[in-house]
Amino acid sequence: MEVRVGTVEEVRRAGCRIVEIGGRDVGVISVGEEFFAIGDKCPHQGASMCAGSLSGTMVASAPHEYVYGQDDRVIRCPWHGWEFDLETGRSLLEPQRSGLRTYPVTTDDGHVVVHA
Ligand code: FES
Repeated sequence: MEVRVGTVEEVRRAGCRIVEIGGRDVGVISVGEEFFAIGDKCPHQGASMCAGSLSGTMVASAPHEYVYGQDDRVIRCPWHGWEFDLETGRSLLEPQRSGLRTYPVTTDDGHVVVHA
C-alpha cells in the first residue's frame, strides 16, 4: 500500500505530519533532505512521537572519550523522554525489547509517499 502524505514542501514545513495507515497513526518526519516514517504512538504510554524532539546521542567510543553522534537521528518522546533511533525505530536503551515500527518513504513527483 502506498500513501501520499503531501508535497515535499508541505511535509518539510510541518516537520512532522501524521497520517493514518491501516488504522494506525504514522508520523512522517522531515530531516534535512530526508524523510522518515515511524509509528506515532510511543510504546511506553502512548504519547504522540510527532510531538517529540530530534537530537543525537553519545556514541560508542574509547575509554575517557565522549563522542556525540547520530545528530537528528534520535527522536525523544515528549512525555518521559524515551529515545528511539529514527532509522531503525529501536529504543536506544532497550533495543531488543522496545521500538517503533518504521516504514519506507520515497518521493514521487514532488510528493512524499509512505509504503506500508
Ligand atoms: S509515553 Fe513515551 S516515554 Fe512515556
